[in-house]
Amino acid sequence: MKISSYWMLLFMTGTILLSFSCKHNGLGPLDDDPIITDTIPNDTTGTGGTPCDPNVVYFDLEILPILQSRCAFSGCHNEASAQNGVVLTSYQKVMQTADVSPFNPNESDLYKAITDDDPEDRMPQSPNAPLSQDQIDLIRKWIVQGAQNLECDASAGQCNTQNMSFANDIRPIIQNACQGCHSGTAPSGGINLSAHNGVAAVANNGRLYGAIARQPGFVAMPFGGNQLPQCSVDKIKAWIDAGAPNN
Ligand code: HEC
Repeated sequence: MKISSYWMLLFMTGTILLSFSCKHNGLGPLDDDPIITDTIPNDTTGTGGTPCDPNVVYFDLEILPILQSRCAFSGCHNEASAQNGVVLTSYQKVMQTADVSPFNPNESDLYKAITDDDPEDRMPQSPNAPLSQDQIDLIRKWIVQGAQNLECDASAGQCNTQNMSFANDIRPIIQNACQGCHSGTAPSGGINLSAHNGVAAVANNGRLYGAIARQPGFVAMPFGGNQLPQCSVDKIKAWIDAGAPNN
């Protein structure tokens, strides 16, 4: 084979392969990729809020992802297209536009639309893939439970407070949330938290935990801000309980 036709052959094979591999891309909503619906995503931010109850349907975690991927796109129910005035991009929009009747799936247009007997009318409309039975059941359950916008923390109970290290676990929290006021030549309250000795001093006299846990008799820290995530409070407590070491 001449060199040039060899390259030509390679080039053609490549083009064919490429066009095959692209087949699945770009179809977006037409794809019938299964969406995992009743597994709550594993968030690792450790904010320590209310633990997720497996029997409760959480809108943001479980319902919104279905609506966003199957309904809220261009030409259908995003803000710009808003077919029939229905916008399915957020809890507020769903409640304002999709005629959801809490506790009453059969009175809810959103539910009626995804279960319509007539396949021509059923949402998502052809050629978009229909919702799976699991997805339909989940939406029904969410409405039966009152169509609420409940929140939970998928990582609650997963905060690791074992073997806290000042350098790796504690200092980063203090740096982000406290050093803005508690460092430099005139640190707030005369408390300098820029190095281990300053942090250890308030750890050992009880002021550090009192302030971040917002106990009575202490000025709540961060001053004027929200309480630290529960996981950060727990980490600092574990480190204090271990003797506030410089490790
Ligand atoms: C916006 C500025 C600001 C930030 C951010 C801030 N502090 Fe403070 N902090 C202050 C001021 C001001 C005081 C003195 C308050 C007073 O005495 O009324 C203070 C006092 C304290 C005290 C003594 C409280 C007491 O009741 O004795 C501790 C401990 C403390 N801060 C720790 C922290 C920690 C830990 C953080 C980060 C999680 C933090 N602070 C973030 C401004 C701040």
